Amino acid sequence: MNQSFIINQLAEERESYFNAVAPPIIQTSNFAYPTVDEFKFAIENEKEEHIYTRGNNPTVDMLCKKMAALEGAEDCLMVGSGAAAISNAVISQINAGEHIISVRNPYTWANHLMTKILTRFNVETTFVDGTNIENFIKACRPNTKLIYLESPNSWTFELQDLKGIAEFAKSKGIITIIDNSYCTALCQKPLEFGIDLVVYSATKYYNGHSDVVAGAICGSREKISQIFHNEFMTLGNILSPQNAWLMLRSLRTLSIRLKQSSETTLKVIDFLKNSDKIEQLWYPFSNDNPQIELAQRQMKMPMGMFTVSFKEKRVDKIKKFCESLQNFLIAVSWGGHESLIMPKCAFVSADDPQVSMLRFYIGLEEASTLIDDLEKNLAIL
Ligand SMILES: Cc1ncc(COP(=O)(O)O)c(C=O)c1O
Repeated sequence: MNQSFIINQLAEERESYFNAVAPPIIQTSNFAYPTVDEFKFAIENEKEEHIYTRGNNPTVDMLCKKMAALEGAEDCLMVGSGAAAISNAVISQINAGEHIISVRNPYTWANHLMTKILTRFNVETTFVDGTNIENFIKACRPNTKLIYLESPNSWTFELQDLKGIAEFAKSKGIITIIDNSYCTALCQKPLEFGIDLVVYSATKYYNGHSDVVAGAICGSREKISQIFHNEFMTLGNILSPQNAWLMLRSLRTLSIRLKQSSETTLKVIDFLKNSDKIEQLWYPFSNDNPQIELAQRQMKMPMGMFTVSFKEKRVDKIKKFCESLQNFLIAVSWGGHESLIMPKCAFVSADDPQVSMLRFYIGLEEASTLIDDLEKNLAIL
C-alpha cells in the first residue's frame, strides 16, 4: 500500500456520505440499532462495531486505519494525548512486582509514570544509557518485563539500536515499546526492526498545526485488542471526533511538511555550524555525531529538531537573544508550521552546566527568513 493511497483513499467511504471528498465529523456519543439482535451483535463485537464513542467512532476509526497503515502495523488506537499513549501502552504490558528497563531521560511524563506512579505498584525501573546495547543486557533481571525506548530522545538525540535491542528482548520474552514521536513512521518504522508497540505524541508532526493534542499506539492486532478491552476503555482517554477530523486533514500534507522542515533544518544547521557563537550542536545527522551511522541505518530522513549550546553562558544574554528572534516562538512542543525555541535556562538554575542549551524546531518558513533572523540576533551573544 503506498503512502498516497493511504493518505487519500484508505478507509474513505465517500459513497456513504454523499461522495463528499472530505469526510464528515461524526459528532455523536452513542449509536442506535433498529433491532435488539443487531444491538446484541454490536455489543459482542465492541472493538469493530459502533456503540459508544469512548470505544469507537467512525471519524476516529478512519484515522486509526490510516495511522496503522502508515506504520505498517496491524492496528492502531488513537488517544487524547501522547502521554495517554505512553501510559496506556506501558500499563498494558506490566504487572505489579515486575521490572522495566528504560532509556535514560525519556520524555518527562514517561519518566513520571515510571518513577512516581508505577513505583506505587511495586514496579521498578532501571534507566540506562541507551547508546550501548550492553547496558540493557546488564540491567536485565529475571522479572524484567518491558524495555522502554525513545530513539532519538528529544534534547540530545541519543539513539538506540532498535534491531539489536528487539532481538535481545525477544530472546528473553521481554516486550519493547518505543516513543517514535521525533521520527514519525515516514522516517523510522520500529516494527520492521522487531519492536512490539510504537507510541506517538501525534500532537507533533502528525497533526502539525499546533491546534490538537493527540496520541497513537500502533502494534499487532492482538496487542491493540488487549489494550482496547482493558486500559483504553477503562482510562477513557479518547480522541474526540473533531480532533480526529483535524488530524485526518493534517495527514494529507504530512509528507510535504516533513520534507520542507527537513530541508530547511539542514540549511539552518549549516549556517549555525559556521557561527563562532556555537559551542556544540546535537543532531542525529550531524557529521560529528558518533551515532551517525546508526541514524543513517534506522532513520530514512533528517528531521526538524536539534539543540545547540552557546559559548556565552550569561543567562541575561541568552534570554535577550531568544526574545529578539522574530521568527522563533519560545514554546514547548514541536512539529507544527511554526519554528520554535526551547531555552534550557527556563528549566535550570543560572549556574547549571546546561544553561546555554537551546532546542530548535524548524517549521515551514523559508530558510532565508530563519537564517537572516538568526544572523542578526546572534550578535547579541
Ligand atoms: C517525545 C515526546 N513524547 C511524548 C510527548 C507527550 O505528548 P503529548 O503532549 O501529546 O501528551 C511529548 C510531548 O512533548 C514528547 O516530546
